[in-house]
Amino acid sequence: MKTISLRDLVIGEVLGQDAYGPQGQLLLTRGTLLRASHIQRLRALGIEEVAVGLDAAPPGAAASRGALAAQDAKSQAFSRAFDAGQAVVREFMERVAAGRPVDSAEARESIDLIYPQVVASHNVLRQLGQLRSKDEYTLQHSVAVSIMGVKIGQLLGLAEPELKEVGLAGLLHDVGKCRIPSAILNKPGRLTAEEFAEMKKHAVYGYQAMKAMGLGASAVALAVLQHHEREDGSGYPLKLPSPRLHLYAKILAVADCFDAMTSDRVYSPRKPALLAAQEILREVGSTLDAAVTRRFVQYVVDLAVGSQARLSNGEAGTIVLVDPEEPARPLVQVQRRFIDLRQRRDLVLEDVRLQTESRGR
Ligand SMILES: [Fe+2]
Ligand SMILES: [Fe+2]
Repeated sequence: MKTISLRDLVIGEVLGQDAYGPQGQLLLTRGTLLRASHIQRLRALGIEEVAVGLDAAPPGAAASRGALAAQDAKSQAFSRAFDAGQAVVREFMERVAAGRPVDSAEARESIDLIYPQVVASHNVLRQLGQLRSKDEYTLQHSVAVSIMGVKIGQLLGLAEPELKEVGLAGLLHDVGKCRIPSAILNKPGRLTAEEFAEMKKHAVYGYQAMKAMGLGASAVALAVLQHHEREDGSGYPLKLPSPRLHLYAKILAVADCFDAMTSDRVYSPRKPALLAAQEILREVGSTLDAAVTRRFVQYVVDLAVGSQARLSNGEAGTIVLVDPEEPARPLVQVQRRFIDLRQRRDLVLEDVRLQTESRGR
């Protein structure tokens, strides 16, 4: 590992240490394969030099105490925003179920907490992974879809007011589930046709709740109504085709599918992020929006480089390269050997830790 000036930095180098911004915010994680956009970003933030190349030194060993402390404070703020989001969703679901009035001001307040954490956080998936527990799936899923929705919107270049709308829609997208019987909601197996028909009503129930809180004609209400609609018209409740779907609904659809796949459910264990990325990529051209999906897959791919992976043959190593067209089949370095999963079709990724290992906890 060596330290080099940003002026001499070229694309394709591997970052040797986590890179932090002027306020101690994590910009890029150790092991990131540097792309032009990364270098531009470091320059824009006035970073003058970075460490490149990976060696055997324990990751983060040279990170300053100040940077770690800033990281801790940041994680706490993220955690508070996550809890506030859950509290709002719980409150809303209870009120809607009881037929009591709901007010959007409270939900907007929690978005004001969530929004700055998401836009400042490079790796929202790692933050979410640390906060998720096995209980309260719907509440945690709602906050996760809000957070990922804001992140996807940010990656697509949406402005702050739009990002907050996406975040609000994400937070409230499944509020209508409070009117679905819990025997259906928590059923540990496949739903029957009748049960599924009942489950589908949550999108309309959610839309009605948005109308009741005065958001009837808004993009937020449309996104809640349309989050299960699909590009090819195969979704529900109205089977609308792509041109009639709001961008926010397309964003929520991607975040919703990805979060469902990467969470432990009563009927299926979570999948590693790269396998979920592969699955949503497969939906491009049929059910999910191409531009939204591809941008998010690229984000997941960028986060995965430098992460620890375990393979189906029991070997573990570091992901060094990922083809965005085939995210489930990265190049993995196991000690001094490289295993290219695009060649080794007999192997699969069993686990990927999207965290930069030791951070003192
Ligand atoms: Fe839903
Ligand atoms: Fe959902």
